[in-house]
Parts: sequence; C-alpha cells; structure tokens
Amino acid sequence: SNLDPRRVGAQGLDFAEALREEKERLEAARDALWGRRGDAAEFLGWIDVPEDTEAVRNVLRYRQANAWVEDFVVLGIGGSALGAQAVSAALGKGPVRLHFVDNVEPEPILELLRALDPRKTLVNVISKSGSTAETMAAFLAFRRWLEDALGAGWKEHVAVTTDPARGILRPYAQAEGLAAFEVPPAVGGRFSVTCPVGTLPLAFVGVDLEAFLAGCRKANETAQAGAEANLPAQTALVHDRLSRKGLNVNVFMPYSTRLRYLPDWFVQLHDESLGKAVNRAGEEVRTGTTAVRAIGTTDQHAQVQLFREGPHDKLITLVRLEEATEDLEIPAVAGLEALDYLFGRSFFELLSAEAKATAHALAKAQQPNFAFVLERLDAYTLGWLMQHLMWQTAFLGELWGIDAFNQPGVELGKEYTYALMGRKGYEPLAEELKAEGVE
Ligand code: PA5
Repeated sequence: SNLDPRRVGAQGLDFAEALREEKERLEAARDALWGRRGDAAEFLGWIDVPEDTEAVRNVLRYRQANAWVEDFVVLGIGGSALGAQAVSAALGKGPVRLHFVDNVEPEPILELLRALDPRKTLVNVISKSGSTAETMAAFLAFRRWLEDALGAGWKEHVAVTTDPARGILRPYAQAEGLAAFEVPPAVGGRFSVTCPVGTLPLAFVGVDLEAFLAGCRKANETAQAGAEANLPAQTALVHDRLSRKGLNVNVFMPYSTRLRYLPDWFVQLHDESLGKAVNRAGEEVRTGTTAVRAIGTTDQHAQVQLFREGPHDKLITLVRLEEATEDLEIPAVAGLEALDYLFGRSFFELLSAEAKATAHALAKAQQPNFAFVLERLDAYTLGWLMQHLMWQTAFLGELWGIDAFNQPGVELGKEYTYALMGRKGYEPLAEELKAEGVE
C-alpha cells in the first residue's frame, strides 16, 4: 500500500509534516488500544482472534464432516453478514452456493425457500445477541421449513453462531443439540469477520482461512509500529486531518467487481463505529464522517463527475491490484481500427490504467485520494486489508475520543419496532408511539 503525498496533499495537507506533528498523539492512541485489549469490556478481542488457530480448526473439522452441503444459508444482518459476504464474493469457489438472508422482505425469502432443497441445505443462524428481530424471524421461518421437510432431521441442518453465554440462542442450541460456534464476548459484530461469524461460511466456499488470518496478523504487526511505519495510524491521520478541514465524506472505491461488497462492509464498519453523539467523557461531540460506496471502473461513469466537480467535502480511498489472477487479451477486429489502442492489450492493463488515470484526475481537481495497492487479490491480502481497516477505525475512535465499539444510536429504532410488533414489556412505548401518530 502507498500513501502518495501528492494525492492526499491535494487539499493542502502536508502529510509528512502532519505525521511529525501528530507522532505523539498517534503513538498514544496505539498504546491505548494495545493496552486495553485484555479487557473484554473494551471490545478489542478482534485484535487477538486471528491468533486463535483452534477456532479455525474447529470450523474446518465441521466443514469436512458436512460434505453433503450444497447450499449454505447465512441468516444474519450487519456485522453478522457483511464480512463473509465481502470475502466470499471476492474469493469464494464452488460447488457450495452461499446465500445471505439479511433483510425481512418476504418475496426474496420466499424465492430462496422455493429454490432450495432442504436435504442439501445448511442454515447458519448468526447473531451475537440472539435478539435481532430480522435474524430471529428468518430463523423461525427456516427452522419450520426444515422441520416440515426433514422432521427431527432438521437439527443436522442448522449451525448456530452466537455469544458463548449471553442471549437465547446458546441455551436453545444446547437444548436441541445443534452445532454451535462462538462469537467471542470481546468481539463486536462489525469486527467479527475473523471469528466463526465469517470463517464458518467462508470455509464452505473454500476460502483459504489460514492465509486470510495470516494477512490479519500482518496488519496487527504493522499496527504495533512507531508512527512512521504504522500504516493504520497514518491512514487514520489522513482521515482525521481532512475531516477537520471539512472533508466529511469518505468514498471507498475498489477497482474490482470481485470486491463489490467490500465497500458495504467498510461503510458499516466506519459509520456505525465513528458516528457518535458523545465522547468517552460523556460530552456531546457529534463525530463521524459519512462513508460512501463506489466501484471502479463502473462508477467513473456515475459518481466521478461529482467527485471531480462537486463540493470539496470528500476523501477518496481507492483499492487497486498490481496483478490479475487471470487475464484476458482484447482482440483486434478488422473494421474497428479506431479501437486499435486496445488491440492486443489486456483487460487488466485497461483496468489498471483507468484506476491510475482516475486517481490522478481527481488529484488534479484538488480531490484528495490515496490507494491501497494490493499485490494481487487473495486471502492473505484481503485479510490484511480488512484487519487494517479495523485498525484504522479503532485509531480514529481514539483520535476522536469516542467509543468506536458501541452503537447506542441504533437502539431506539429497535425498541420502537418491538413496540409496534407488540412485544411484551413494550406497551408503554407502543402507547407513546400511538400518541405520536405512529402505529
Ligand atoms: O456491528 C454490529 O454490532 C451490528 O451491526 C451487529 O452485527 C448487528 O446489529 C447484528 O447483531 P447480532 O449479531 O447481535 O444479531
């Protein structure tokens, strides 16, 4: 990866000078994060998870014991789905088909249920809390569907991934004798791709989990370095400095269709972690910048117009690859000589040229951007990038003095939903909503 000062400097940020000025603050943030990691209440367990080889072996044993699976259905939402979705789209291989049910719109659920064969389907319900209405509703439906088709055999077709102690799913799995995997208590949803939340579905689509976690460990190593070599501290610094100059939109733009779900994962990680009303001291601060997804080259023909000529309120993070996994030559065709600049070149050459050209054109428009340049797209580099982005988020939380690991802002909506759905104990809230015209 590189931090090209010409590009991030497009809005007058002298990166080298900022790094000198902020060295102490960055290293204090690093020390605070590493120092708090033993405390489960701090939710820094994601730092250590890639070291836990026993959890991966457990997942791989389960995968081997269930060779019959043809369709693997993830029932989960937010952090319980987006990581596996991002990695499987990039690296997943058949023959097992992976499906994600992360919404409660009935039509797509019915379409999936009608398409699947219950005898060949494994349903993985993933909920750390075990209380998320969307996931639990899906579980109720899929459990009934399995039982209707398989009778008592439904139990062999369900794997539960949840907290080892809290919530209703763990005792339920125990009572029914279901296969169960742990979300470590100190790991929050959006930081959970390296634990069985991500690794179990990914094992079924053949992702090299050892390499994925080795990439994460590499990012951990870099996150221990002094500020001059600490890349997550540095990318956090760029975000911090530019947001203080009013650049409050963070565009995350991989040049890869295989990475098409990575921005969704990043948007959740960034926005849910860093959009906070109060700081750790309880003072109102209203922090946060808004992450936005884009895909290159596709969105060069859409959002790039805005990125070059719209308001100067953005930092753009590009992801590009140095090498294709497989390439395709663009053939010469008689009668279309106007296209001869493409003849004999490869698709990957064109993709790379477009990524570099766009980055430079953005810088020319005073639009700051930097690129993560991955040698190639594989389990190691993707593990590295995802763990780096988790570190970047954690560093920003420290720099902004907020708790990046909670999400109090999503609670009220959940409680209103319970009230509207008639959950016991929420009657007063239902009355309040009625009085306010919501029913
Ligand atoms: O990052 C988070 O904590 C959230 O996005 C959760 O992952 C999401 O709300 C799902 O929660 P749970 O796994 O408890 O069902």
